[in-house]
Amino acid sequence: MFAVYASEPNPDDPLASLTIGERPEPEVPEGWVRVAVKAASLNMHDLWTLRGVGIKAERFPMTLGCDGAGVLDDGTEVVLHSVIGDPTWSGDETLDPTRTLLTEKHQGAFADYVVVPRRNALPKPAGLSFAEAACMGTAWLTAYRMIFVKSGLRPGQTMLVQGASGGVSTALIVLGKAAGLRVWVTGRSADKRALASSLGAHEVFESGERLPEKVDAVFETVGKATWSHSMRALKPGGAIVVSGSTSGPDPSADLQRLFFLQLNVIGSTMGTREELGDLLRFCDIAGIKPTIGSQLPMTEARAALEAMQAGETAGKIVLTR
Ligand SMILES: NC(=O)c1ccc[n+]([C@@H]2O[C@H](COP(=O)([O-])OP(=O)(O)OC[C@H]3O[C@@H](n4cnc5c(N)ncnc54)[C@H](OP(=O)(O)O)[C@@H]3O)[C@@H](O)[C@H]2O)c1
Repeated sequence: MFAVYASEPNPDDPLASLTIGERPEPEVPEGWVRVAVKAASLNMHDLWTLRGVGIKAERFPMTLGCDGAGVLDDGTEVVLHSVIGDPTWSGDETLDPTRTLLTEKHQGAFADYVVVPRRNALPKPAGLSFAEAACMGTAWLTAYRMIFVKSGLRPGQTMLVQGASGGVSTALIVLGKAAGLRVWVTGRSADKRALASSLGAHEVFESGERLPEKVDAVFETVGKATWSHSMRALKPGGAIVVSGSTSGPDPSADLQRLFFLQLNVIGSTMGTREELGDLLRFCDIAGIKPTIGSQLPMTEARAALEAMQAGETAGKIVLTR
């Protein structure tokens, strides 16, 4: 079958490992389902996989794509939940130490077919197209959990989103606005800040710019490049919710500020199946659609990944089949 895959780990030149070609059709284990992929969206995670981050070397070649939507063999339209763990685990599956994301152990969705445990295929809401639904399972779910499960924010409080145009950032802006939060956003260029404004951000700032007042919570996926600004942006008792470190994983902790202002640093990763269901219902109730910056046929995956690597994002990048 057609597939877009990483042939081997390549830490220095990830796109050199990208292969667009043929892979064997997957077998369907007992209790799993086969999904004919209609759309899949890119995440920074795909570039990490090409680099060999978070995946064992013996698991290559690995089909990319941890976000997707498609059709089961019985015709049911579904959205993928990408967190796959021990079927006997009960409770929050993001805390299962054996859990992996699609493309870390199991083959991903940039292909004609992907197989997942039955519980990881949720019914696709009729109001979302396949391309829109393909944005929900990773970036949008991560943003939902950061705001509604982890941050402790109440409507009326102020959130700062570091980064304007990425998949997680655009989801944070739209979901935060819909929830009645005051949404402030930093962006690296005028175009990116304009995008954030068009999505409903109340104020936008250049990266690192001094803010007019302190905020209740900061939402971080950038890491080293924005961390000290995030620490300085917080009110006493405020929280940074962090789910990524695109620019590097070794921020200075600023420990004196951390304890003196009694700040909270809260890690967040993906979300549960139940949270994905709630996110889909929230989008339906509030009339929310994900922001798609570009949509290309899956055969154009190289151009799509090059754009993401170059920071040329304006919301999610979607590949269709
Ligand atoms: N823990 C989880 O479950 C989880 C889930 C999803 C994503 N993530 C992580 O979150 C991060 C973002 O993922 P994504 O898929 O949203 O990526 P993306 O679509 O490529 O977005 C990248 C974002 O990072 C910002 N950025 C990058 N470098 C920057 C720099 N030097 N200074 C300021 N801003 C910078 C960009 O801001 P501009 O708009 O200003 O360019 C953009 O908003 C990745 O590290 C990813 O691995 C983690």
